[in-house]
Amino acid sequence: MDYSKFIVKEASSQDLQLFSDLCLLVFGQGYNWPPELFEKWMKTQNAHLYLMWYKTQLVGSVMTCPQFDAEGKPIIYLYWVAISPLYQGQGLGKHLLQKVISQEDTVWELGVDETNLRARRLYEKLGFVPYETLGLQPSVRSGAKQYRLQPNR
Ligand SMILES: CC(C)(COP(=O)(O)OP(=O)(O)OC[C@H]1O[C@@H](n2cnc3c(N)ncnc32)[C@H](O)[C@@H]1OP(=O)(O)O)[C@@H](O)C(=O)NCCC(=O)NCCS
Repeated sequence: MDYSKFIVKEASSQDLQLFSDLCLLVFGQGYNWPPELFEKWMKTQNAHLYLMWYKTQLVGSVMTCPQFDAEGKPIIYLYWVAISPLYQGQGLGKHLLQKVISQEDTVWELGVDETNLRARRLYEKLGFVPYETLGLQPSVRSGAKQYRLQPNR
């Protein structure tokens, strides 16, 4: 796989309809947010959306959102990690996340369903560690399994 053909760029507001379509395809009806809602949410949360493209085709997404952990230390939380079904299982999720997390030497966090083994394996390969392994108290985020990636890895 020639990963250099898959370009990761920060999204503009014109990309949000395609992103919204991708989320519906990948996550299903419960995540059917219109572009305006994403735009509003991103503004209020100071979030950034990164999209991966193959030519004009949208292949994947990840949103970064600056937050504070339970001790008040700054972290960046990852949301909307998605790879279009046709492109899954080819290392592109890894490619996208590596590009984004290498931009900043910070603590990265995310939540994932316990049963989502593909995603969990991907995060673990990238160095994310479950909260409990780090001796951290699980947070109250909607029943998801919490992962953290420490800086200076
Ligand atoms: C989870 C997701 C983002 C992963 O992206 P991907 O491009 O499919 O994953 P990759 O191909 O980069 O695979 C990463 C690792 O997962 C593992 N993997 C790949 N296919 C797998 C499978 N069918 N079962 C288990 N593990 C698998 C591989 O070990 C791979 O590591 P390697 O590259 O060192 O071999 C993508 O599958 C997706 O969008 N899924 C639906 C939405 C979702 O669940 N998002 C995450 C929400 S937290």
